[in-house]
Amino acid sequence: MTSYAFSTESAADIDAGLLILPVFEGGEPGPGVREVGLAEAYAAAKRTGKKGENLLVAGSADAGFAAGAVLLVGVGPKGAFDVTALRRSLGAVGGTARRFGSVATTFPLALGARQSIEAIQAAAEGLGLGSYRFRRYKTGEDEGAALERVTILGSPRWDGRAARAAVARADVLVDAACWARDLVNTPAGDLPPAEIAKAAQAMAKGAGLTCKVWNENQLAQGGFGGILGVGKGSVNPPRMIEITYRGAGARSRPIALTGKGIAFDSGGLSLKDAGGMENMKDDMGGAASILATMKAAAALKLKVNVIAAIPCSENMPSGSAQKPGDVITHRGGTTSEVLNTDAEGRLVLADALAYLTEQDPVCIVDTATLTGACMVALGTDIAGAMGTSDELARELIRAGSAAGEPIWQLPLHADYRKLIDSKVADIKNIGKRYGGAITAAWFLAEFVGDVPWMHLDIAGPAFSEHGNDLGPAGATGFPVRTLVGFLSARADGTRKR
Ligand code: BES
Ligand code: ZN
Ligand code: MN
Repeated sequence: MTSYAFSTESAADIDAGLLILPVFEGGEPGPGVREVGLAEAYAAAKRTGKKGENLLVAGSADAGFAAGAVLLVGVGPKGAFDVTALRRSLGAVGGTARRFGSVATTFPLALGARQSIEAIQAAAEGLGLGSYRFRRYKTGEDEGAALERVTILGSPRWDGRAARAAVARADVLVDAACWARDLVNTPAGDLPPAEIAKAAQAMAKGAGLTCKVWNENQLAQGGFGGILGVGKGSVNPPRMIEITYRGAGARSRPIALTGKGIAFDSGGLSLKDAGGMENMKDDMGGAASILATMKAAAALKLKVNVIAAIPCSENMPSGSAQKPGDVITHRGGTTSEVLNTDAEGRLVLADALAYLTEQDPVCIVDTATLTGACMVALGTDIAGAMGTSDELARELIRAGSAAGEPIWQLPLHADYRKLIDSKVADIKNIGKRYGGAITAAWFLAEFVGDVPWMHLDIAGPAFSEHGNDLGPAGATGFPVRTLVGFLSARADGTRKR
């Protein structure tokens, strides 16, 4: 466990294994570089301050700093250096940071007083997220130490209480996002629906949340035909995880959350081809991110009520699997024709959305690794947002941009609704060739009644094939920090209703 602290000590005096200082493009030394006497060393090593041009200087008896070593980090043009760039450039050196056990950084001082609180939080987040490694299945020695201590240096003129709250917030967010990453990175063979549910229950117990797990009999009793239909082909039966967080008064209507929890998506009888199928263990990334959001909401004691209902099924082909052409009845009675068993996410989410709509929520947000089409539209880094409330969309996009998790709204174009009309049931689970992210959203829209609702398609950003600035290859934890930011903003009444 990493501990996070804020300090107003000077760069030269701070005692840490590694001190991380920024240098801007053109070689202009950032906060702390002159104080530790390394302005010339960086230029002498022919570094220019371009992003990623770093220089590691070991300490010595006559060094101008108390830290064990100093890492000078090229962060690119000063004009482009904002909170997001700060988080990312510290994330990118997370792998180096963890070798030193304890780190300190002056990065927030490069942004000035006005953004100090956001910058402090982002600095701690960057180091925490960037130093994450998934080592559960590695039997050898770790190549780095654990990152034990992160100290964010700032000005004594800044609000110390707010600064300490910012590092504490980052601590919670990193913990939650990395917990979600662990769940997603765990192979599907070790994390069937019942195990996801167990992990949720253990988390809920630790966090003081109420958790009810629906088993397959209870799901059948409740009419959850989508969750059961998708799970039919697997020997691992489905579950639905219901978690309640009460941070506001009993009369305050809850915010409802759900996330796609497909433990493994083989495609079912509409089998996927083998290339890349191993990554379909990430198809519960939406579920993991909602569980982690609940964990963080409780830890931060947000003054808001939240209910989450998370459908978990495993999509497998077998003699008992649902078949193309089958018709299923969802929670609430709507029927859908399953024309492609690989469009399974919407089938399980439909039940959860219908159930949440019954709970009289103020709004519903779902997140799901739902469509390859969304990745075609927006690439691997950006989530697509679709739904019935532009206002809610704006809140999520704003929270996403503050968290450095980009979200772009796609239109729930009215004319595309008819693409999911079915000849035999109320709706069918695939549209035509084009606009697949939007037809998927139209399917979900059938189940939310008139509750303001937004859907985040995270098929791209939930998983990083080669790793990025904020973490290694594998699960990213997207959009945990966005959702917690969204809930925090609602709790703070930034948006009065
Ligand atoms: N889980 C997949 C979507 C996905 C693809 C996520 C790649 C992450 C990376 C989803 O269940 C799926 O298979 N969607 C189909 C829908 C189609 C059959 C209408 C798709 O996108 O191809
Ligand atoms: Zn899927
Ligand atoms: Mn699928």
